[in-house]
Amino acid sequence: MSDELIKALDPGWDAGDASTLVPEHAARLAEIEALDPALASLYARGAAVLAGAPDATALKERSVALLGRERGVITRALAELPKLSLEQRKVHGKGLNLAKRWLEEIEKARRETIERAAETREVLDVTLPGRRPWVGHAHVLAQIREELLDLFHGLGYSVYTSPEVELDSYNFGKLNFPPDHPARDAHDTYFVSPEVLLRTHTSPGWVRAMEERRPPLRLVFPGRVYRAEQVDASHMDQFHQMDGLFVDRDVSLADLKSTLNTFARSIIGRDVRTRLIPIYFPFVEPGAQLDVACAICDGSGRARGGAAGQRCPVCKGSGWSELLGAGMVHPNVFRAVGWDPEEVTGFAFGMGLERIAMARYGIPEIRLFLENDLRFLHQF
Ligand code: PHE
Repeated sequence: MSDELIKALDPGWDAGDASTLVPEHAARLAEIEALDPALASLYARGAAVLAGAPDATALKERSVALLGRERGVITRALAELPKLSLEQRKVHGKGLNLAKRWLEEIEKARRETIERAAETREVLDVTLPGRRPWVGHAHVLAQIREELLDLFHGLGYSVYTSPEVELDSYNFGKLNFPPDHPARDAHDTYFVSPEVLLRTHTSPGWVRAMEERRPPLRLVFPGRVYRAEQVDASHMDQFHQMDGLFVDRDVSLADLKSTLNTFARSIIGRDVRTRLIPIYFPFVEPGAQLDVACAICDGSGRARGGAAGQRCPVCKGSGWSELLGAGMVHPNVFRAVGWDPEEVTGFAFGMGLERIAMARYGIPEIRLFLENDLRFLHQF
């Protein structure tokens, strides 16, 4: 009987595991097997195609084929019972009735799992605020560098890149540091070998550019520099500088001053308080230092919220923060590259990017720039 009926079930239907829907499935199959082995294979296949129905439509189609009131295979088998002997009728009838009831249970369980899945799919609430993808951005120092490059491009400067691992002669000698001069002590230097070091400033780039090119020059030299410093709130042993170099005929200190004023107004702000004081650098004459009022203590020199008499940790109580060094290029620097200081003149400046960021945003700690703490970095 069942072999023929089983053909009414499409062999292409995918099967599932009915015991995930009805835990008693294996025991029930065994019970039918004991009563009627032929019916058991129909029952097993029926249970599998119900459990494997991928959606409500497929489930409906399969349950009609099995249990449909007219053409369902179980219904048809039940209709054939009267043809059997009383003895056979008892056994087959019991098996068929159990199969019918248990298949209905599987169909119901499968229908419920399909409906539940549809409901969870529908909980998508399109009125909820979306989740923004995480987007990174440039480091605050990279932003400052780009801003400075924009400014100096506008003033006619282009970028010159020179090495971080530098020859002693470019870092010091050709920049008019006499051998064993105390000025070298201000640049606590990481030496790689007696002749090779990590550059302590970006000024060696001037020498390389001048050796390579002819005047006039208008260049900026951005990059990382290294000093074997005692690390504290305003000193790190690596930081960033950008030098500028302007070489032509008849360049004057007035040209330098107007360039520095343009720089300070554009980068720090229109009302920034600045001062220009004379200072010694071997490679400029005269040399000057541009200071801005300390952004941390607002020029007072006192620590914020600290007890009376406590010094501001960033400006060390002076009320001023050193922003850049500058001056007229020393004649010996021109001589070192074979240029005639009677013919060419120039000015140069060099600034610390960390200092600029600290002055602008009131950042009290230079170490924050390198710590990669996102709570810090995301503020800029
Ligand atoms: N190179 C100097 C320093 O690192 C800064 C500077 C640049 C000073 C140009 C004068 C002119 O301290």
